[in-house]
Amino acid sequence: MKGLGLTIIGSGSAVPTQILTNQDLSIIVETSDDWIETRTGMKERYISKEGESLSDLSAKAATLAISMASLNPEDIDLIVLATSTPDDLFGSACQVQKAIGATRAVAFDLTAACSGFVFALTTAAQFIRQGVYHNVLVIGADVLSRWVDWEDRTTCVLFGDGAGAVVCQSSSSQDNLLGFEMCSDGTQNSSLNLAYQSTAKELTPNISINSGKYGTITMKGKDVYRFAVEKVPEVIEKALYRSNLSIEEVDWLILHQANQRIIDSVSTRLGFNKEKVISNISKYGNTSAASIPIALDESIRQGKIKLGDTIVISGFGAGLTWASAVFNWGK
Ligand code: ACO
Repeated sequence: MKGLGLTIIGSGSAVPTQILTNQDLSIIVETSDDWIETRTGMKERYISKEGESLSDLSAKAATLAISMASLNPEDIDLIVLATSTPDDLFGSACQVQKAIGATRAVAFDLTAACSGFVFALTTAAQFIRQGVYHNVLVIGADVLSRWVDWEDRTTCVLFGDGAGAVVCQSSSSQDNLLGFEMCSDGTQNSSLNLAYQSTAKELTPNISINSGKYGTITMKGKDVYRFAVEKVPEVIEKALYRSNLSIEEVDWLILHQANQRIIDSVSTRLGFNKEKVISNISKYGNTSAASIPIALDESIRQGKIKLGDTIVISGFGAGLTWASAVFNWGK
């Protein structure tokens, strides 16, 4: 018997209302439009204001994706929300489930920083291929502006907020997730952190607890840069090998939008034509787990990505984690 496969049949995305330009940043820290654009390719990014939550952005992106898939929220069986910045440390997927009215769905968060969307898509695929769930909503969303040190010019210029979503559906005749590969390396964890900072608190003379709080994002930019340009081409090659495809057979490359120089270096190393490489970093900055699904959704809605196109995605970031997946868009 032929096993179940999956198709990716809807996409959506959402960003906050507020735009933060490089010019604005030069008022906040000692930087310039020229430095930021030359080093990163970024011009502006969307930043959530008070009251614009991660759950709201995720729900907007999800609703658009469900509508494109011609489904109703009650058709969704599972929601996987990839985020490192939930509204609630216990998870925000259930808040999204409530907000969109996905009354039948089970929902949980998954954390893998900027690789989160790729990890969530491959997780969704396992549930679908096992025949457990039919319609799965995969969301990548982050509001890193909450966790940035706005006095640290080496990180605060990089990040933006947003959410992107896709709907995956089981199929007995097609499997459009052609291959994937996921990697982690905890030995390099200190390269990129948003760590809990411990403070001892005595409850009784014999019992003490750790009563700290989360700090802000710290990053060794050069280390992460080197890691990305070395490891991302490798993981893409592995995902393509598992898909039995060559680079020439791929229509689009969507990398995590962390730095235009990383996008250029990785695509050149792999031998991708520039026309096949999707980049929207100038408008959005690094939106972490949201960057790939936002770029995917934007390109689909612009009519750039067409039904049946073969797309390679690759995320990388804190953990360290990195991953790639290859799929055909649509049924
Ligand atoms: N404006 C002006 N000058 C700056 C700024 C700024 N915003 N930031 C740093 N500088 C200065 C530095 O102080 C340094 O000055 P010095 O030479 O006098 O010491 C100089 O610019 C060069 O700094 P570098 O850190 O060497 O700059 P680099 O070219 O490496 O670019 C960057 C920094 C953009 C962060 C780059 O290293 C990078 O993109 N790294 C990868 C980041 C990434 O991909 N993260 C992805 C994961 S995100 C996630 O998972 C959440």
